[in-house]
Amino acid sequence: HIDRAIRPKRLADYIGQLRVREQLEIFIGAARGRAESLDHTLVFGPPGLGKTTLANIIAEEMGVGLKSTSGPVLERAGDLAAMLTNLQPGDVLFIDEIHRLSPVIEEILYPAMEDFQLDIVIGEGPAARSIKLDLPNFTLVGATTRAGLLTSPLRDRFGIVQRLEFYNIDDLTEIVTRSARLLRVETDRAGAVEIARRSRGTPRIANRLLRRVRDYAEVRGNGQIDADTADMALNMLHVDHHGLDHMDRRLLLAMIEKFEGGPVGVDSLAAAIGEERDTIEDVIEPYLIQQGLMMRTARGRVVTRQAWQHFDLAPDQHSVDAP
Ligand code: ADE
Repeated sequence: HIDRAIRPKRLADYIGQLRVREQLEIFIGAARGRAESLDHTLVFGPPGLGKTTLANIIAEEMGVGLKSTSGPVLERAGDLAAMLTNLQPGDVLFIDEIHRLSPVIEEILYPAMEDFQLDIVIGEGPAARSIKLDLPNFTLVGATTRAGLLTSPLRDRFGIVQRLEFYNIDDLTEIVTRSARLLRVETDRAGAVEIARRSRGTPRIANRLLRRVRDYAEVRGNGQIDADTADMALNMLHVDHHGLDHMDRRLLLAMIEKFEGGPVGVDSLAAAIGEERDTIEDVIEPYLIQQGLMMRTARGRVVTRQAWQHFDLAPDQHSVDAP
């Protein structure tokens, strides 16, 4: 995959998320010092903030292998058993979207996490047998968008829990500058800042926009990225000056135009814009909430005064300020 080239491989190259980095440095250093595997680690946060990247970094820093899978892919007991019995001592097993494991698979995971025991039933009916196998020590790294989506027995089995936050503009500027260097595209400071400001606090989006701005610069400009080139390219991509994309604007405008700014339930909102409820909750609204453009209340979602102003509309008399 093209992201391989620019994905940081060591903690020292991981920009931002200082609390996460500092804690992992300590926990990894301690585990290495004791020649143990790292405790099971849960990483949660909105998509694109570097959960998979962190799993790779943990394996690299621990000097162990990494096997990857995801919640929806593990359909049958045998799928998980195959992954677990393929691990080398100390390996990282990365399960993305771990909140989407079936209850049957979760039950198998508990003794595997706690006692490194595989406990499964093979066969059916009178021929069914229960078998127990010793597994090598391993580190489960689970990723999910919201920690609250996990069942509590699963959440309780992680010794390390880390929350990733949206990146600030300085950190994103550094990420864009680093990626531009690796992609060998000349980018000045103002160009990098412009891309950073319009990336929804998200490195994956910043890196994607950088590639599109590079295309624009190569075809319409002199191949170099400055603030003007970035601005023109991002306007062409309908990324607005706040970094909101088409879906963000659709959501906010639906709340304003169809529901007078709210409160509106997330299911009504999903129906109004033809999106999945999960997409609204996991992908679209976290950034809008963090930016103070909308809020979640007991009675439903509401847009803030800042959202009306974003669209140059006169705020509804009942509209509220972001907290
Ligand atoms: N790419 C994705 N996340 C990153 C980060 N935190 N630092 C550097 N590059 C990244």
